[in-house]
Amino acid sequence: MNSRRKRKYSTGAAVCSIILVFLSFGAGRLHAQEIIIPLVTENNALVLEAGKAKELSIIYFGKKLANAQEYQLVPSAYRQTSDYSGLLNAAYTPSGSRNLMEPAITVTHADGHQSLDLRYVRHEQQQLDHDVTLLNITLKDPVYDFEVVLHYKAYVKQDVIEQWSVIRHGEKGNVTLHKYASANLYLKAGGFWLQQYHGDWAKEMRPEESKITHGIKTLDSKLGTRANIFQPSVFMISLNAPASEDEGTVLYGALSYSGNFRTDIELDYQDNLRIISGINNYASPYTLKPREAFTTPSFLYILSQKGKGYASRQLHDWARNYRILNGKGERLTLLNNWEATYFDFNENKLKALLRDTKKLGVDLFLLDDGWFANKYPRNNDNAGLGDWQENKTKLPNGIASLVKEAAANGVKFGIWVEPEMVNPKSELYEKHPDWVVKEPAREEHYFRNQLVLDLANPAVQDFVFRTMDDLFTRNPGLAYIKWDCNAVIYNAYSAHLGNHQNHFYIEYMRGLYRVLERIRAKYPDVPMMLCSGGGGRVDYEALKYFTEFWPSDNTDPLERIFMQWEYSYFYPAVATANHVTDWGKQPVKFRTDVAMMGKLGFDIVVAHLAEKDLAYCRNAIREYHSFKHIVWQGDQYRLADPRKDEIASIAYISKDRSEGVIFNYLTSNRYGAGSSRPIRLKGLDPAAMYQLEEISLYPGTTSPTDADRPYSGEFLMTVGFNPEVSGSRTSVVLRLQKK
Ligand code: GLA
Repeated sequence: MNSRRKRKYSTGAAVCSIILVFLSFGAGRLHAQEIIIPLVTENNALVLEAGKAKELSIIYFGKKLANAQEYQLVPSAYRQTSDYSGLLNAAYTPSGSRNLMEPAITVTHADGHQSLDLRYVRHEQQQLDHDVTLLNITLKDPVYDFEVVLHYKAYVKQDVIEQWSVIRHGEKGNVTLHKYASANLYLKAGGFWLQQYHGDWAKEMRPEESKITHGIKTLDSKLGTRANIFQPSVFMISLNAPASEDEGTVLYGALSYSGNFRTDIELDYQDNLRIISGINNYASPYTLKPREAFTTPSFLYILSQKGKGYASRQLHDWARNYRILNGKGERLTLLNNWEATYFDFNENKLKALLRDTKKLGVDLFLLDDGWFANKYPRNNDNAGLGDWQENKTKLPNGIASLVKEAAANGVKFGIWVEPEMVNPKSELYEKHPDWVVKEPAREEHYFRNQLVLDLANPAVQDFVFRTMDDLFTRNPGLAYIKWDCNAVIYNAYSAHLGNHQNHFYIEYMRGLYRVLERIRAKYPDVPMMLCSGGGGRVDYEALKYFTEFWPSDNTDPLERIFMQWEYSYFYPAVATANHVTDWGKQPVKFRTDVAMMGKLGFDIVVAHLAEKDLAYCRNAIREYHSFKHIVWQGDQYRLADPRKDEIASIAYISKDRSEGVIFNYLTSNRYGAGSSRPIRLKGLDPAAMYQLEEISLYPGTTSPTDADRPYSGEFLMTVGFNPEVSGSRTSVVLRLQKK
């Protein structure tokens, strides 16, 4: 073939250019046009190509090249076996035409045919602000009036890409979507390693890493509400070799969705990796009407060539700047009464706790479960959910008097709710059995003695919104909400949806987000914690509405070191609520130090604290207020891994590298365990001089660390420092200050 190549480059945004390649096939033959679309961020490029036949494929995802014209040469550098379908590297794999692998989308057309083909039609790019671009690519079926628009929002500085799809058709009747992924990625490397997570109540975020073998590995949830309890949607994939904290290429992925999710990770016969992520299509074939737009949730991903640490710092920056509600703002320290009283409290007891809140020195008192319901009082977890009126026996003067009392003590007041749920023993259930998710003809099946309300029903959405609105209207001083969600969905059936049950799981989530939108439209700033019987629900869609999340009911500090370590790959400390409780065997100092690596709270009986313990806590809280901005807004470095070492060490360094806090813990109880070697710091200015001072000291103890000794940043990063962690110093917090 006599081919001559001319190239044309768009003058669009610097971060996203288009390369047009004109191919001429000799006299008298049509010019075919190849379009190359590199989506470029600070460090990477995701390069798409609409080939001769206009299939849209991914030809490169890796470190960005200085010369954008060279992206088109990438495919020619591979000598892998034949692609019999031409779709192995599709940017959004259709099914039923030539495809032979796992599809991103599967449909039944209005005429009953199941074949879909998608070809590039056009694309456009917009610069949304200095650091954010949006690339939209329209794909159409040449035979059917059916289109998919792929949206790629690139957060350039953070290397984060947020991708979602909008599916529409103009066919003569309804189309059924059997699968409708958010994104479809394609990676080439000499081997892939998956780090995934699993868990259960009090065992959240347990990591497993394995080499990916041929075939499909699916990460998914079918739980409906607290979708993450057994498996969250976050994962990492290392390319070529398992990435370490500072080395290696690693992709982080997270579906921004709080309901059922599904991520298929397929190592194909050419040894390349296909990743397809979206809403779980389990029990959810979606009936799409003509001209209705089906918008998928977004799939977030970030590629790092500098190991896991860099990826997480970039993701934290993205989350704080663009996603978490008030991600750059303040958070409130608090005293919670859950483990202090459980359901057993009254106004007087709570008033004493309000005084304790003040005594301790935290910002807010959080009243947990048990304050509501009268006909079926909420005195344990088998009654009252849904009846959101103050319990008259426990709180004869209502919440209002507690809010007032809190103000008189100079502290704020927050409250626990679980508005998506209902106990069968409740007035709500009696009045509105049709608002409950259940199969009418089947025996009810409970999770923590409760059922889920049908948020697919607009009347239920109104009820949940009104529950919250009433609380705020009646108690304008209410300063904090803990929003819980303790049950999964069994017997999924919505009386409201009638014979459209296939939409139930999706409509539930739409209903939930609608309610949260309404709450946020009216109450944009009030901090809310996302809780789900521990850490059963956290994702970047929910965090648009919540300022923080509860990682687990397991607050044993030793367990928490491991758990917070894993969460911290994906979520920044500012959103991670950690409470000091009576779980675990460690002293109060150890428990407080661990809880300070995030948003600090307490859930203890202050009156039971020994004098010295109380003095310690009060001082630690004062110190926390002086460095919390570094933990919340600084860069996090994981220095010593408790899974590999006898200690854990985690540092938070301010963006200007002038100050930091370093947390060090003994995580082994073997004989002589401790910090035998120095720990190398990261993220400092090598030329600057720093001092290290031990803080969070227990009354009567002294520190072996000489706070006056200066160290160069170079020394601290090359040789390191020794926090002298040992059996007698099991947790050591150091404050770093530039001289
Ligand atoms: C869940 C939460 C706890 C507490 C209880 C109250 O289990 O995770 O923190 O709020 O509910 O019932």
